[in-house]
Amino acid sequence: MAEDEHAAHETIERYERIWVGFSLILIVIFVSLVFYAVSMHGTHIGHAEPRQDPQQILAMEEFANPGVVQTGENTWQVNMVAQAFSFTPGEIELPAGAEVTFRMTSRDVIHGFQIRGTGINVELIPGDVSSLTYTFRRPGEHLIICNQYCGIAHQNMLGRIVVTDPDAQVAEADEPAASAPEEEDWRAAAERSFNAQCAACHQRDGSGMPGAFPPLAGHIPELVAAGGGREYLINVVLYGLAGVIEVDGVSYSGMMPGMGRLSDAETAAVLNHALHAWGNEGALPEGFEPVTAEEVAQQREQGLGPADVLEQRQALGLD
Ligand code: CUA
Repeated sequence: MAEDEHAAHETIERYERIWVGFSLILIVIFVSLVFYAVSMHGTHIGHAEPRQDPQQILAMEEFANPGVVQTGENTWQVNMVAQAFSFTPGEIELPAGAEVTFRMTSRDVIHGFQIRGTGINVELIPGDVSSLTYTFRRPGEHLIICNQYCGIAHQNMLGRIVVTDPDAQVAEADEPAASAPEEEDWRAAAERSFNAQCAACHQRDGSGMPGAFPPLAGHIPELVAAGGGREYLINVVLYGLAGVIEVDGVSYSGMMPGMGRLSDAETAAVLNHALHAWGNEGALPEGFEPVTAEEVAQQREQGLGPADVLEQRQALGLD
């Protein structure tokens, strides 16, 4: 009897030793993998740079004029500002094989910056610059998604990276440029601007979201038809709009953020897309001329606020 018990104890102890040994080996494997990732793949844990005044960061040249710049023969830098609910620039074109440095910050709240099909996934924090370097090996398209809940249209906060074949680009450049009609140029450019800056809330088809973001399709011509609607529209984009409005019997109490950071030309472009797309063009008054950058510059001089713009809307007598 005592013999049996002793043997049983021996067996249990042997299993325990095996398991303890196995756990130790696992720990050694994990720690080695961490060292391997750090030394061979440049993986690193986010480091805490001192936070700065967000306005100071946004005033830096690279963020005052976000975009893609070539910094060397095969190196590029992407300067990006995120805001609810878009990335600026929203569409990025880069050659495959180039070393790309991303420098990014947020204008308002914490956003995510995740590039599908890559390991890139960083937080964009107001008052902080997130930077990373990456090389896209193959031509193709990547979706940029915001994976931090940042507000009601968070799920629409998307961007796009188009990785081009550098060899194909050279071949294209050799061909004589096809002269596209100028008309098509401004429409295509206006659509791109709108999709990058406005579509997250108002949707690419201008249908908005009932109760959250008013529709622009069908509604914009009504505003133009009301006297003074043209200036009002420019002001909404420049200064935003705060307060309760009603469109097609649906009440909207949201807050349209002022887009004053857009250039005069880009402000005119997003407006012209909303004015001419989705069948709105046909409902415009006869002889309607597209909004110009000069008009935007004029309205910008007024220095209004979102509440002033609401008053202007009420003066149109629509509600
Ligand atoms: Cu930005 Cu979610």
